[in-house]
Amino acid sequence: MWKRKLCWTLFVLLIVAMVGLGLAQTRAREPISRDDFPSHFVFGSGTSAYQVEGAASEDGRSPSFWDTFAHSGGAMDKSTGDMACDEYHKYKEDVKLMVDTGLEAYRFSISWSRLIPNGRGPVNPKGLQYYNNLINELTSHGIQPHVTLFHYDLPQTLEDEYKGWLSLKIVKDFTAFANVCFREFGDRVSHWTTLNEPNVGNIGGYDLGIFPPAHCSSPFGFKNCKSGNSSVEPYIVTHNILLAHASVARLYKKKYQAKQQGFVGINIFAYYLVPSTNTTEDIRATQRANDFYIGWLLDPLVFGDYPETVKKNAGSRIPSFTPRQSRQLKGSSDFFALNYYFTMYVKDDPSSLNHDQRDYMRDIAIKLINKARGLPIPGELPVIPFGMQGVLEYIKQAYDNPPIYIHENGLETKHNDSLNDMSRVKYLEGNIESLLLAVRNGSNVKGYFTWSFLDVYELFYGYQSSYGLYYVDFNSPDLERYPKLSAHWYSNFLKGRRRRSNI
Ligand code: FCB
Repeated sequence: MWKRKLCWTLFVLLIVAMVGLGLAQTRAREPISRDDFPSHFVFGSGTSAYQVEGAASEDGRSPSFWDTFAHSGGAMDKSTGDMACDEYHKYKEDVKLMVDTGLEAYRFSISWSRLIPNGRGPVNPKGLQYYNNLINELTSHGIQPHVTLFHYDLPQTLEDEYKGWLSLKIVKDFTAFANVCFREFGDRVSHWTTLNEPNVGNIGGYDLGIFPPAHCSSPFGFKNCKSGNSSVEPYIVTHNILLAHASVARLYKKKYQAKQQGFVGINIFAYYLVPSTNTTEDIRATQRANDFYIGWLLDPLVFGDYPETVKKNAGSRIPSFTPRQSRQLKGSSDFFALNYYFTMYVKDDPSSLNHDQRDYMRDIAIKLINKARGLPIPGELPVIPFGMQGVLEYIKQAYDNPPIYIHENGLETKHNDSLNDMSRVKYLEGNIESLLLAVRNGSNVKGYFTWSFLDVYELFYGYQSSYGLYYVDFNSPDLERYPKLSAHWYSNFLKGRRRRSNI
């Protein structure tokens, strides 16, 4: 008898648990809205100078190394950013779209060679005017400007003169450029990011040769590079970038922060990395991959030195910091910004360390597994929204919960796909839901930006692929903008209207 009673009780408990779980699931599936997040959390969308401005040789702007790269056929469709979305002339129209959408912040970058055409020295008054106009247009409509100082567009003059980021001379010039920006715009801009994802730019630009300045050396790289050394240059460039970042942050903190009350940080590209099996090898390989992708930049900025795994595998090819540099790096970022797009699975690959000649990719000694096979193909990237929470949890644990902004998150589709971009809506909704779980679990994440506000000129695919909330008709001389379904969805989300993505 007592056995029957026990069975019955267990059965009832099971039903109660199942109903409970079911309810919890329905709750989690309730449409989310901006009001689920703290009021001080900021939601926006972004672009970058070369990708959106156009007017490439207007009003005194000189070329950046991205112009040079694009003009030598760097993008898949051989296009350039000469015209892009022409935001240089259409910024008022674009700010109006931002207001209509309900954006609270706009992330954009300043073209160094528009502001200081020689890379150093005199400021271009027309460049200054443009950024003042854009910033004033934003702030007068209550939209916070979040500004990046370097987004893949080094003045070509500095590349020609001393090879840009490969030389320590860059530290002085980058700091002087930042000084102009802080001095001229810092009364209205409170969020400064020194560099956009140097961990991708360095590998793409100095190991694989697929981004400006297209350096690589045989047997590495996807293109016939004219110059470079894939084994050492990524390490040197990252070293110089970190020192440049620290120098700019020091300047801001000493000279501007007390008065302007702003913040200075750096942006990195971050995958959420998951071991492909639960073997010790793959688990260790995943930590090593995090050290290489994230720790390469964040460890020096938090702990003052590169991760041990990176130093061990790169050996004498990675420069070291002096004790003074190390002190200057530590704590130099008020926040870290992440460009998070997708999750990757990690497989240990110790054999890559057997090569006499190694580059950064071989030094990591892993294989990344992604359904999209190799390079991203528009629309084929796996959408694994839990990765957003995963990567935020990783940063929280590894770096003592620093302030974080998600600077980029978005889905690539073919540019001429329909305006009915349901896949993007699902992607954004899934990722923002995951972000909310991270916030609720105590992650110190302070803001989220979609990439991108408009369809822009893209690094790999030029105008063939896009991430925009707004479609841009690149075939029309007026470059009209049209809202996609994702613009409507994001707008409803921002305005506190709870709508299911499939309605
Ligand atoms: C990021 C870049 C950004 C954009 C997206 C798709 O890596 O920061 O400029 O091209 O990828």
